[in-house]
Amino acid sequence: MVSKLRPLVAALWPVALLIRPTYSAGYVTADSTTPQQNNQNCTCYVVESGADSQTPQYFQYYRFFDFRNLADKSEEYVKAPAVVDDWDDAPNLDVGQSSILNSDAWNKDWNIQNWSKNASDDFAVRMVNSPANVYLQQNNDTNDAFTYLTLRTTRGDGFQSASEIENLQKNVMHVSMRMSARVVGDKGAVAGFFTFYDDNNESDIEILTDDPTDVIRYTNQPSVDTNGDEVAAASQEKTKLPAWDEWQTHRIDWLDKDSYWYLNDNQVAASSYSVPRKSSYLVINMWSDGGTWSGNMTENGSAEFQIQWIEMTFNTSGKVEGDTSPDPNSKRAAELLDKREENCKVVCKIDGVEQKGTPEIVSSSMAAHVSLSGVAVALIGLTSLWVGL
Ligand SMILES: *[C@@H]1O[C@H](CO)[C@@H](O)[C@H](O)[C@H]1NC(C)=O
Ligand SMILES: *[C@@H]1O[C@H](CO)[C@@H](O)[C@H](O)[C@H]1NC(C)=O
Ligand SMILES: *[C@@H]1O[C@H](CO)[C@@H](O)[C@H](O)[C@H]1NC(C)=O
Ligand SMILES: *[C@@H]1O[C@H](CO)[C@@H](O)[C@H](O)[C@H]1NC(C)=O
Ligand SMILES: *[C@@H]1O[C@H](CO)[C@@H](O)[C@H](O)[C@H]1NC(C)=O
Ligand SMILES: *[C@@H]1O[C@H](CO)[C@@H](O)[C@H](O)[C@H]1NC(C)=O
Ligand SMILES: *[C@@H]1O[C@H](CO)[C@@H](O)[C@H](O)[C@H]1NC(C)=O
Ligand SMILES: *[C@@H]1O[C@H](CO)[C@@H](O)[C@H](O)[C@H]1NC(C)=O
Repeated sequence: MVSKLRPLVAALWPVALLIRPTYSAGYVTADSTTPQQNNQNCTCYVVESGADSQTPQYFQYYRFFDFRNLADKSEEYVKAPAVVDDWDDAPNLDVGQSSILNSDAWNKDWNIQNWSKNASDDFAVRMVNSPANVYLQQNNDTNDAFTYLTLRTTRGDGFQSASEIENLQKNVMHVSMRMSARVVGDKGAVAGFFTFYDDNNESDIEILTDDPTDVIRYTNQPSVDTNGDEVAAASQEKTKLPAWDEWQTHRIDWLDKDSYWYLNDNQVAASSYSVPRKSSYLVINMWSDGGTWSGNMTENGSAEFQIQWIEMTFNTSGKVEGDTSPDPNSKRAAELLDKREENCKVVCKIDGVEQKGTPEIVSSSMAAHVSLSGVAVALIGLTSLWVGL
């Protein structure tokens, strides 16, 4: 195969913020800015995308949020916290496991939501986001122990408790973002993994527990027009996919003119309809409101969105807090660490690496091949790629 790696225009990148997450063993050390999963030598990242899944796309930043190694011992986090059973209390309940989920390291990247909405003609069930529905769990298997983040939704007496977290990096402009996740539980819930600016700049992966386990919805919003009619091009319902109630890797590539969706490295949907044009941020939620999209959950029902890790490589535009109207309850992302280099000198791949979450250096001439074949190529004295071309 002829490498499709194109020479890049010499882009003098603006000095920008670089925040590196610390979610791994040693997760709670708030001042740690160099998690062991990351390769600090990388100054840009390449992924293969596009209609042919072979067109290299380059990004400036990389994050790996790893929820797999957060227990200190076996049988920690094996029990789910109490069900949220009171509408009034729900938004003010504390997040459990606050040593992690309310740590400085966590709060630097994530905001746990507590907004609510009333029932209406179209959405029969009122819904409240509760911090108590966001928690860590460990699989109770000593032979293969790992932890994961859970977002839960439960149907209480006359209301739905839900959960949502948003990433505080709100100036993302184009991203390839992935998660290892599964969805389990009762019908009538929606698990969402999406980029958001507003209702007309949003790119979604949604798993509906009303759907068969081989069906996933891929959408660029708006999915209804100003007359309230459905836009046929907006949402794609794909079938015969690997089961969402088992661990799979889900991925959205939001590029300049197109969106691509992947499941376990296979492209499953593409769209050029309403590709977002505003700086956005990652949102993850688990909810139900009795509307036609989510359906109704039966009383005392529960469903869980479970995530082992989230990976994103992205470019930015604008301020880190984005340009949506400020939410008084929203935390601010820490502004820290300038980027070490202004130019993309050292290109790293993030797919087909030895250890997920640890980008590996690739050569300019080999990049396309390498990430396809999964062969690791370590290069010393890499020739500059984006400098002085
Ligand atoms: C990064 O580069 C330094 C200096 O060239 C080298 O010593 C180190 O091993 C590299 N680290 C990784 C993770 O490749
Ligand atoms: C990311 O930014 C770099 C530097 O401006 C640019 O060369 C690259 O094409 C951008 N990538 C995407 C996917 O927009
Ligand atoms: C976890 O497994 C142990 C040993 O099999 C068992 O005793 C314990 O009850 C389990 N805990 C939960 C919460 O399932
Ligand atoms: C949401 O939580 C904040 C504290 O983080 C609190 O001040 C606010 O009142 C809560 N919102 C609601 C609707 O209860
Ligand atoms: C829901 O309705 C009640 C009155 O029934 C009102 O006090 C409350 O502000 C409404 N909440 C939202 C989120 O609109
Ligand atoms: C994005 O937001 C802008 C400003 O609100 C709007 O004009 C535009 O239609 C939205 N959607 C897209 C795909 O640009
Ligand atoms: C959900 O249940 C309510 C009655 O509690 C009903 O009005 C509504 O139409 C149901 N929603 C769906 C999508 O069936
Ligand atoms: C839901 O749980 C509550 C408390 O355990 C119980 O009183 C109620 O009967 C249950 N509702 C249904 C429909 O099972």
